[in-house]
Amino acid sequence: MMRSTWLAFAVAALLVASVAHASPPAKLKVGFYKHSCPQAEDIVRNAVRRALARDPGLGAGLIRMHFHDCFVRGCDASILINSTPGNQAEKDSVANNPSMRGFEVIDDAKAVLEAHCPRTVSCADIIAFAARDGADLAGGIKYQVPSGRRDGRISISDEVLDNNVPGPTDLVNELVESFKRKGLSADDMVTLSGAHTIGRSHCSSFTQRLYNFSGQVGRTDPAIDPAYAEHLKMRCPWPSSDAQMDPTVVPLDPVTPADFDNQYFKNVLAHKVVLTSDQTLLDSPWTAGIVKFHAAVEKAWQIKFAASMIKMGNIEVLTGDQGEIREKCFVVNHY
Ligand code: HEM
Ligand SMILES: *[C@@H]1O[C@H](CO)[C@@H](O)[C@H](O)[C@H]1NC(C)=O
Repeated sequence: MMRSTWLAFAVAALLVASVAHASPPAKLKVGFYKHSCPQAEDIVRNAVRRALARDPGLGAGLIRMHFHDCFVRGCDASILINSTPGNQAEKDSVANNPSMRGFEVIDDAKAVLEAHCPRTVSCADIIAFAARDGADLAGGIKYQVPSGRRDGRISISDEVLDNNVPGPTDLVNELVESFKRKGLSADDMVTLSGAHTIGRSHCSSFTQRLYNFSGQVGRTDPAIDPAYAEHLKMRCPWPSSDAQMDPTVVPLDPVTPADFDNQYFKNVLAHKVVLTSDQTLLDSPWTAGIVKFHAAVEKAWQIKFAASMIKMGNIEVLTGDQGEIREKCFVVNHY
């Protein structure tokens, strides 16, 4: 077969597979607020627009926020709840504090929504809409977000890293397992990792790779392109401290840091990614094949990304009369 024919075939096969997989359980639906709050999605989009005008990086924060919300107690906005004297919440887990950003965008959207349609639109749906808008406004494709999620009332910091949110040093098999626990496939995992085409990482998420690879002081992970490793060492000196102490960040995609494109997959192939969890996608033939496919056919990745985001947005959702519609996203209702 000619290369182009083969690619066309691969595109078709993968798209059919991902769309078939993506069909969500019929709990959520597109246009859930069509009658109860017709402006809901526009209000969220405008809040995201205002935020991006101030700080273009917030789009990345919102995409990551949806991921970290959905992987702990499902997509129930548990990530937004503030810690209280008796309880450290998800927000203050080391996986989120200080790296998670965009909370004020959600609060801004919620304030406008409460003025227009009080107690109607859940914080969990606001995150899902805002994540879509963050990707779309950075150059991703527009997709329709099924909604009707309800907000949870529980948020516990320890649950974040307890077999829920994967870590930056995880290897491919651990990542596959981690997504499988949430009902997502290895293909979804590779596809969604493409979100690392925008945004940033704190040095602490990868300095062990630069200076203490596999526990040997002075050793650098041979899987990093040597020139890129040198560049990173200048940005992130040793000894490193945690993100709380050292606010230094580097772009996750050094080539087109602000564009929601398929450059991330080209970076993985070129060994120019900062996280072990990104480079390890080449360690299994199946995930490596998907990386190569996404690097070759941008449009296919974009379509698959939207489908996998919708699938992720369905994880353990509360619907109907479960949970509540929070009035303020950072605190549970008091009645
Ligand atoms: C496959 C497992 C994943 C791991 C281990 C992982 C880990 C990380 C880490 C360590 C950072 C940098 C945090 C920091 O130090 O500031 C990061 C950033 C980011 N992640 Fe992931 N991630 C994964 C999957 C995902 C998924 C599924 C999404 C969304 C669909 C996502 C979206 C993002 C975005 C957009 C950023 C940049 C955030 C910002 O600039 O504020 N990641 N991720
Ligand atoms: C180097 O890595 C080893 C193994 O992960 C770890 O125990 C040790 O604390 C690290 N050293 C430094 C200085 O970070």
